[in-house]
Amino acid sequence: MYKTLAALTSRLGAPHTRRLAATSIRLAGVVNRLPPPPQLRRSVMGLSFPAPLGLAAGFDKHGELYSALPGLGFGFAEIGTVTPLPETGRSRGLAMVIANLARHPAPRSIPLGVSIGMNRATQRERMADDYLACLAQVWNHADYIALNLGVRAGPDLHQPEHRAVLRSVLAAVKEEQARLTAASDRRLPIAVKVDQTRGNTDALLGCVRAFAFDGLILSGDALDGGGGRVLATLEQVSGALHGVMPVISVGGIRTPQHVQDRLNAGAALLQVYSGLVESGPLLVRRINRGLMPDQA
Ligand SMILES: Cc1cc2nc3c(=O)[nH]c(=O)nc-3n(C[C@H](O)[C@H](O)[C@H](O)COP(=O)(O)O)c2cc1C
Repeated sequence: MYKTLAALTSRLGAPHTRRLAATSIRLAGVVNRLPPPPQLRRSVMGLSFPAPLGLAAGFDKHGELYSALPGLGFGFAEIGTVTPLPETGRSRGLAMVIANLARHPAPRSIPLGVSIGMNRATQRERMADDYLACLAQVWNHADYIALNLGVRAGPDLHQPEHRAVLRSVLAAVKEEQARLTAASDRRLPIAVKVDQTRGNTDALLGCVRAFAFDGLILSGDALDGGGGRVLATLEQVSGALHGVMPVISVGGIRTPQHVQDRLNAGAALLQVYSGLVESGPLLVRRINRGLMPDQA
């Protein structure tokens, strides 16, 4: 039923199919109140996750769907990417997101991550300020922070010619994390999202590692599906980071087998976006069921 509707709305364009998925999540979230089986619970970055699969950034940019997610089997949600100021078609701005997040005070049933980014118009020298403004404002409303380096605005921080800018952003964020931790008496883990499709992954990972971030979100090519490239890179990266920081894998997850393969390749957690749009919210429960030991 969902797939038929998705096929119909896809003719109108991707935003329509995403809207269908969001509406389905809202509706399904009202009637579904089944948390994931307790065997799927895990501890990552010092937080307790009821299941390994979470909602990827970009789907719920403004924190409007969070309350529907736990009952559908999601293990966590990443809201955003938020930017300090509103931007047509992309972001309604930090103030609006904060107002939504304030409706979900701790303790929360699933960890709430907030992905932070920068505005398109921000000058390269002021990039760090955008990240810092978001970090300070979302600090009291989130369980973890995701640093979105893949923002298609300003310099591409994946590229070697921008390594100095990248380092200054990472250093500033780490400093602010320490300051906010001391001021609030509460430490929030920060994971850095790296897009492996943009190349230069090794050098970028070196920086993330040197600054001792709490986790890495490794985003692969959605079109590669469960295919070799994503898995091979994940295996290599999670092997190199074993015992240093957990890896969260995102990109191309559509079936329980994809999730199992990523876990076997060393992922601590996973996120889904496109698979959800294509298959609808019941995909999450199907994946959780497929991860149960007696289904293996
Ligand atoms: C329309 C769209 C918007 C997205 N917006 C964001 C975003 O704001 N921040 C972010 O970190 N990733 C964003 N992403 C990337 C997803 O979080 C994810 O990394 C990517 O889609 C691969 O996962 P998938 O194959 O499950 O879709 C977006 C993806 C899509 C398709």
